[in-house]
Formats: sequence, structure tokens, C-alpha cells
Amino acid sequence: MEDSNASANADIHALCDPARRVVLRGGLAAASALLAPLAACVSTPPTRLLGFTGVAVSRADAVLVPPGYVAEPIYAWGDAIGAPGLAPGLPAFRADGGNSAAEQALQAGMHHDGMHFFALEGAPPSERGLLVVNHEYTDEGLLHTDGAAAWSAEKVAKSQAAHGVSVVEVQRDAEGRWAVLRPSRYARRITATTPMRLQGPSAGHALVRTALDPSGTQIRGTFNNCAHGVTPWGTYLTCEENFVGYFHGPAEPDAHARRWGLRPQGNGYRWHEHDERFDATRHPNEFNRHGWVVEIDPFDPASTPIKRTALGRAAHEGAFVMQAIDGRAVVYMGEDARFEYIYKFVSRDAVRPGGFAANRELLDHGTLYVARFDADGSGQWLALTAGQGGLDAAAGFASQGELLVKSRQASDRLGATKMDRPEWIAGDASTATLYCSLTGNSSRGQAGQPGVDAANPRADNSMGHVIRWTESGGLAGTRFAWSHFVLAGDPANERAEARGNANGAEFASPDGLWLDPRGVLWIQTDVSPSAMHRGEHARLGNNMLVAADPRSGELRRFLTGPVGCEITGVVTTPDMKTLFVNIQHPGENPGQRNDPANPTRHSSWPQGLAPGGRPRSATVAIRRLDRGVIGS
Ligand code: FEO
Ligand code: CA
Ligand code: CA
Ligand code: CA
Repeated sequence: MEDSNASANADIHALCDPARRVVLRGGLAAASALLAPLAACVSTPPTRLLGFTGVAVSRADAVLVPPGYVAEPIYAWGDAIGAPGLAPGLPAFRADGGNSAAEQALQAGMHHDGMHFFALEGAPPSERGLLVVNHEYTDEGLLHTDGAAAWSAEKVAKSQAAHGVSVVEVQRDAEGRWAVLRPSRYARRITATTPMRLQGPSAGHALVRTALDPSGTQIRGTFNNCAHGVTPWGTYLTCEENFVGYFHGPAEPDAHARRWGLRPQGNGYRWHEHDERFDATRHPNEFNRHGWVVEIDPFDPASTPIKRTALGRAAHEGAFVMQAIDGRAVVYMGEDARFEYIYKFVSRDAVRPGGFAANRELLDHGTLYVARFDADGSGQWLALTAGQGGLDAAAGFASQGELLVKSRQASDRLGATKMDRPEWIAGDASTATLYCSLTGNSSRGQAGQPGVDAANPRADNSMGHVIRWTESGGLAGTRFAWSHFVLAGDPANERAEARGNANGAEFASPDGLWLDPRGVLWIQTDVSPSAMHRGEHARLGNNMLVAADPRSGELRRFLTGPVGCEITGVVTTPDMKTLFVNIQHPGENPGQRNDPANPTRHSSWPQGLAPGGRPRSATVAIRRLDRGVIGS
């Protein structure tokens, strides 16, 4: 550990250096202590970024936004996507969970997560576009009329159809209200059974061949799609996060299966009973075909999604894309699991003009790196390249294809920094500065687990933090300087109950992050319902969306969500007059699935529901009544 006084002096000095503002690291590096003096160092105050009235913490079963704003749900689980050839509104949602698997495949999936708004040509860019939405997972207690008591082939099919991604066309009317356009030629559902292709170094490798696909290139489906990315050529990246839990693993796993957490019981999905692909005792390589970043062309509903193995295999949270000065694509990725890693992929080639048609293989060639955060505030990107740095055949990495399937093991071998669950990454290309939310890690410092380090400085980190770094040699470089942007809650104590963050926008468990074009850093929170149930962070109420000014360090709460939900998916239209956000799993039952006999026990959001109705994840459109820019 550094000397805390020396560290504090260095940090306070850094606070007044515009090039290194908000340096929080170790010792007295406390958000509450340092965010306030920061403002005093700025001799010429910048234009004020945050212009709204902050909202209080809340336990209401509602979406609450600042005065002058309105929040309207526009696309909830079970809403029709507007499939071509179907009458608007069909198939109609059945509030008792009674829709069939075939109907679910033409409706919004469950548990909305990462999302992007793609403007459509031929219309004003902020009035009509495609909303692409991940559906991360399902609550089988709400999905089926009788819940998850007994699985059947139809229920597995419905569960698989409720996963994946939606593409829907949305339009703003003269009053500023948004609605899904039905029917639309773009409307599409991608599910856990949609045909896709595996490309890049691992395509065709022995580790990804199965009895059902001896080629190792033709894969069915994507699931547990968490956050996302958007490429400069206009495609959507969806990220496969907790895919392992869908597989029924062997009682005696080998070292590879153990490193990835493959277990006989999985996480409760019993798909393997009716879809043998998910029985890893029969098809041990199927799980190697998941955990990738998947590229989707939202403008071509007939296109085949492509799993991009060059970006590595992980419990991928998101894939944030920027462009280096020389035109190469740079993709930042967090792996949201305790003690896993932060990755960066740099493409071999520069992005070409001409959209997806000109960049179809850009993400198949390049270098994957994993981050090491050193105690002196510097950091290094370590190349995950077969044949380099001890990543050779003797170590179990005979080829790049094999290495990428075993990205975790390769990162272990390089000594990368084991992080406190890296979630979303956001960045500012003009300064080559990135932010990553680390949602927390209740295992750090426990017996047999890694202890604290400079980048992850709190044992039993129940509050989480946001780390940031600036690339020293541009986005494609291999060295960086890092600091803590904020340690959530009271930095002297991981527990929110102890003492509040002095800046008035206390939060815990940062997850979604997005830097909008004005420079506002939007932080979305995901305190788990079970943590809430245990009484942790009770003073924080429901999950929230906080706006941060990275220049001044000011934090202000913009939105609080309904009971039991997480907030995710934030994005604005190009004119920044609409902010879309996803309300995921309202009413989630701590530690178990919801009870279909009493589905509204915890929440009846999005609206007061009739008996037998069910809470529904949904996309919400937020606008200002005076039609101004969001957050200003
Ligand atoms: Fe799906 Fe890491 O949140
Ligand atoms: Ca997340
Ligand atoms: Ca989370
Ligand atoms: Ca989630």
C-alpha cells in the first residue's frame, strides 16, 4: 500500500491539474472528501452540465423522474414486435402468461438490458429509428401460467423464445410521445434458437465442434444477452454473459469446465431436459460455442448474426466500441464475474467507409488484450496472443483459436488484474479516457480468495466503484494511467448504512454506464433484490439512474425505478431530447422465481395490473415537457 499522506497530497495536487481531474486512489482517496474540493480547483467554471432537479431516493413502485420530465413505457415484455404480415397488436399479450412459444417469438422477450437507438435514413434522425433491445434472462415464475413447477418441451421453447434480442421500429409523434410502429419490415426477434455463424480464429476449432455441428461454425442462438455495443459501421453487438448456467454440467468437471463454472445443477434452467444441446455431459463442447460477442445488422432482418471469436470468450457484459486515430476499431469489454478481467480488442484493419458491407470481417482480425492495473497508477494491456508471453502449446494454448476459447485461463497466466465484477465501459474518444463500473465483490478478501489491491481497494466490496483510465499512446496503445472516479457510498466503509456519500447522490452497485454526447456520464444501478432483502443499502431505496459530471465530479440522481427492478440500457436519441432506459425485472423475488399464483406481491409495474397480471420489464421513453435536452 502507498503511504496514505503522500498519496493524498499527490491526489489533491492532481485535482487542480485539469489533465488529471478526479484522481481518487487509496488512503484518503474518498469520493465524499475529494469530490467537493474538486470544483474549487476549476478557475473558469465550465458550462454547467447538470441542470435538472435531482430526485430523492424512493421505495415507490413507479418510475420517478425530475419535475418537468415524463417517463412513458413503450415496449414491455409480451408486446407485439410488429412482425410483417401481422395485424398491429398481434400476437396479443396474455397477462396470465398464457402466450405460446410461437407467440412469444413474435413478442418482446423478458428482462430488457442493453439497448441502442439506430436512426433510420429517410426520416429526421431523432424521430424514427430502430430500437434494438437485449432480453437478458427470464423469470419462469412469470413466463408460464403455472410457473416453473414442471418443465415441458413447450416451456423450454417459450423460455428460449423470451431470450435474445428485439429489433423494433419506433417513432415520435407531434407531441413528442414514442410508440412502436406495427407492422414494420425491420421487426425481428433473435432468440436462443436463431441460426448464427461463428467467425474468427476459433471458428471450426475442435473445441467448438459438436455432433450437431461437425463444422464448428453453425450455431443456434444467443442467450443471457446483457449489455451491448455499437460499431462505427452501424451494427449492434450483443454480449453473452452468464451463459454457463444454462448447461447441465458433469459431476466431475475437467479443469476447463471448472474454470468456467460448469456445474450439474446450472442456475436452474432445465432446458437440457428437452433440448439436448444443453446437456454438457452429452455435448461437452456446446458451452464453448457461447460466451461470445455477437454482431447483428439491425437494418437487414434476414441477416445472420455472427459470433466474433477474435474478441475473446467471457461472461461478456458489454462491448464498447471506439475508433483509434488511425481508424482501427477498439472494443472495450468487461467480464462481469468476481475476480475476472477487463479486455480490449484492437482491430488489424482500419474501418472503411461503406457501412457493414465494407466491414464484414473487421472484427475477425486483430489483437485481444487484458488489463493489468499496477499499484503506482499505471497500467498495461497484455496481449492475448498464442505463442507470446508463455501462452504456448505447453501451457494449453496451441493456437489462437484454442486460446480464445480459454480466454480466462490465458488471462490468469499473464497475471492480469482480477477485478470486482467489471460491468459496462464508457469512453471519451477526445481524451482517450474510459470508465468502467465495478459493481462489487462480496468475496474479495475472504479466505482462499484474492485480497484487496490498488484498483480494487475494498474487501467485501458491497457498494462497488467506477474506475477510469486514460490511454497513454492513444486508444490502440498498450499503456494507460488509471484512477478511481468514485468509490460508491462511504469510501471508509463498504456499507451504505454507515454514512452517506457527502455529495447527495449516494448509490450502490454501479452497472450500466454511458457517456452522452454532451459529456454527462450516466450511471445505472443494480443492487440485487436479495441484497435489498437482506437489508443492505436499505437507505438507498430502489435502483436508480444517476447523472455525473466527470469534470466537476458532481453526481445527481435523475431517476428511481419500481420495486425490485434494475435500471439499465440508457441511450438518447441524436438530438438528446429523448432518453430511453430499460426497467429490468420489476418485482423480482429475492432469491427465487416469482410466484405465478401471486405475481404482483412485489410489484405491479408498469401499471396497476388486474388480478393475475404480471409485472413486466419494459423500455421507457423519457422526455422533457418543454422539449429541451435531457439533463441540461
Ligand atoms: Fe447482466 Fe452484469 O449484468
Ligand atoms: Ca449489467
Ligand atoms: Ca449487474
Ligand atoms: Ca440484470
